[in-house]
Amino acid sequence: MHDRTLGASGPVVSALGLGCMGMSALYGEADRTESVATVHAALDAGVTLLDTGDFYGMGHNELLIGEALRTAGAGARDRVVLSVKFGALRDAGGGWNGYDGRPAAVKNFLAYTLQRLGTDHVDVYRLSRLDPAVPVEETVGAIAEEVEAGRVRHIGLSEVGAETIRRAAAVAPISDLQIEYSLFSRDIEAETLPVCRELGIGVTAYGVLSRGLLGGHWTRDRALAPGDFRGLSPRFSGENLDRNLALVEALRATAEQKGVTVAQAAIAWVLSRGEDIVPLVGARRRDRLAEALGAVDVALDAADLAAIEDAVPADEVAGTRYPEALMAHLDS
Ligand SMILES: NC(=O)c1ccc[n+]([C@@H]2O[C@H](COP(=O)([O-])OP(=O)(O)OC[C@H]3O[C@@H](n4cnc5c(N)ncnc54)[C@H](OP(=O)(O)O)[C@@H]3O)[C@@H](O)[C@H]2O)c1
Repeated sequence: MHDRTLGASGPVVSALGLGCMGMSALYGEADRTESVATVHAALDAGVTLLDTGDFYGMGHNELLIGEALRTAGAGARDRVVLSVKFGALRDAGGGWNGYDGRPAAVKNFLAYTLQRLGTDHVDVYRLSRLDPAVPVEETVGAIAEEVEAGRVRHIGLSEVGAETIRRAAAVAPISDLQIEYSLFSRDIEAETLPVCRELGIGVTAYGVLSRGLLGGHWTRDRALAPGDFRGLSPRFSGENLDRNLALVEALRATAEQKGVTVAQAAIAWVLSRGEDIVPLVGARRRDRLAEALGAVDVALDAADLAAIEDAVPADEVAGTRYPEALMAHLDS
């Protein structure tokens, strides 16, 4: 496994991170034993970046990661970089009730997170979505106080745009921006990525498989469990899905010529975008993880990249990446 550094001030992490969200929430039922085994397999393979959110299953995901680290053998906690998002307000019915980035809330969220993870510090801590009622300077300032206190190592951002990035970076060093980036979601290339590069901020890219669409295993008739986010996603519905699966088939033909799978081509493409970008993959099972890890050694030359971008041209994807109501929460 190769390493990459998250921004000018951030930690060194494996070139591929494991996003643990789907082990607790949003993609239907997950198998707990298999989830823990997948985290262990990732650690064994040299993955050192684990990403979670305190609101993924209302604490379930942090408890799961805490258990996986406790049972992974001595020193496992110290070998990983734990990236945690906070701020999303939930209800017991699974609803979403906005975001809270007030300084007192930051400290409260962090206290609970440390308890659930069973650790005395979080490596990268970030507000999951900008709280429109709280200036980003106040939220980042509160995290900076936790850095001073030793309970947080680095400050990250999530789904914010250029102006917010500049304002946040003026308060304290920012390690990385977490944002959706894939062959299907290339919006960051115009403004956000250049600003990150100018300011020495890395990117942890999520949705590199477009939540499974670019995984190469999705089918038109796949049944979705109640509450699966993809049931509400414009990219997974009706004619949009047909158009997007046609793009996936074009990518499959290109990937096969290269001797790799669709998922490996999609992940390798994100890896090829720059040493400052670390893709998170949302593997929930060891077989999916093994497939994803295979992307790390795929070298794409100029001809390969051209073929991939011919198969999936920028802006050809059908449908927005979130439903309309959730698009409204994006500052990015
Ligand atoms: N900052 C933010 O706003 C934000 C938002 C969303 C996610 N995230 C983070 O980013 C992580 C990744 O996001 P994601 O899970 O949506 O992204 P993803 O990696 O694009 O999608 C994961 C989905 O892809 C499927 N898949 C197919 N082949 C795969 C393979 N070889 N390896 C891995 N997955 C494969 C999985 O399959 P199965 O259905 O078969 O398991 C799963 O449904 C999350 O876990 C979370 O930590 C952050």
